[in-house]
Amino acid sequence: MYRPTRRRFVTNLGRAALGAGLFGAIGPRWEPPPPLPDPGDPDYWRLVRRQYPLSHERVYLNTGGLGPAPFAVLDAVVHTTRSLQTLSETGHHLIEETRPEVAAFLGADPDEVAFTRNATEGNSVVASGLDLRAGDEVIFESHAHPGGSFPWMVRQKEDGIRVRIFEPDPTSEEGNLERIAALINERTRVLQVSHVTAPTGIRFPVEAMARLARDRGLWFHIDGAQSAGMIPVNLHAIACDSYAASGHKWMGGPHGTGVLYVRKDRLDEVRPTETGAYGDDGDVQLPERFGYAPSARRYEVGTRNASLVAGLGEAVNFLETIGMRRVAVRAGALAAYLRERLRALSGVTILTPGKDSLAAAMITFRVEKLPYRELYRYLLGEHGLRCRIVSERGLDALRVSTHIFNQEDECDRLVEAVRAVSARQ
Ligand SMILES: Cc1ncc(COP(=O)(O)O)c(C=O)c1O
Repeated sequence: MYRPTRRRFVTNLGRAALGAGLFGAIGPRWEPPPPLPDPGDPDYWRLVRRQYPLSHERVYLNTGGLGPAPFAVLDAVVHTTRSLQTLSETGHHLIEETRPEVAAFLGADPDEVAFTRNATEGNSVVASGLDLRAGDEVIFESHAHPGGSFPWMVRQKEDGIRVRIFEPDPTSEEGNLERIAALINERTRVLQVSHVTAPTGIRFPVEAMARLARDRGLWFHIDGAQSAGMIPVNLHAIACDSYAASGHKWMGGPHGTGVLYVRKDRLDEVRPTETGAYGDDGDVQLPERFGYAPSARRYEVGTRNASLVAGLGEAVNFLETIGMRRVAVRAGALAAYLRERLRALSGVTILTPGKDSLAAAMITFRVEKLPYRELYRYLLGEHGLRCRIVSERGLDALRVSTHIFNQEDECDRLVEAVRAVSARQ
């Protein structure tokens, strides 16, 4: 499989650190890469930034909406597409080669992982596949993204299940557990949360929630659209039943990629609702015999775009070359840097929890003098700062995502722009 990261990125980081140049400046002869600069050194992160084709014309602060992919990922997609087109082959074996890499990245087994188009699809497979009856109840947070809530709303409308929602507690882990526990009754079947919530970036204590769900006999599903690639995720350690991620946000994968995890011993509880070619066990005998693939591959049907999956594999490779712990520390440190500076401005309210364990790499804030749409237009139009509006639940705010390609001076630009507008009479 085409794997540009190790060959180019690491070598490049080292060479660029020595002043030898950037992409494309690598000679044909392989040499062991020189040591990487220290990740505590701002040069290291400037070199990481140079691995992205992302324009410098504006400051991109919306990885929570869509994350840019590094060159290595784009190269893998293009190269794989061309090779497959040259032979006119599907390249499905590449999907199987990528599966263990992506599974390991999420702390799962290859059999437990299906490739999807996005997080919504993964959430939807679980919501539509679980055997629920009219009157059964599902709990999730009021801040759930439509990609996580709509699949349940459809089941409420079509199948008569009942959706119960809790208001996230931005102040304590226990508060969230108590709010969920207060909604559980004998009809409750499922607990779902966003690992990190979309509107205000609250990070939920998913390990404790998994224990609560297990004790009460509930299916525990995590919408991980905002966690995969932002913080280290180990699904076996979390002990959830299912988890859906976006490949095209924090993971930096190609657009239209995602991952669904379903625990091996519970696969049969999630009925595939879309099925057909490649979702079977390879021994179909019409009309009597048919069986699902004995793995999460049962949720992948029909001919797939193997180049995108190979690109997602490369995205994982890229993040792991840096190290997920370092990624999380860096992204979180930028968010904390921003939070402290925004907090010091008068007329600015931070909606993201201040407690480290309840937050990660997104900061949501409100400027009292300026409604969110105007603030969004002002920051983008006058300062080239691309944030995301937060219209949910009347929050009237903006959300900023900080990832490994962002830099401190970009945070400073945002703070200065907000300072200027909040100081206006
Ligand atoms: C929590 C959450 N779930 C789901 C989604 C939808 O993601 P996707 O576009 O990958 O389906 C988002 C997107 O912002 C999200 O924040």
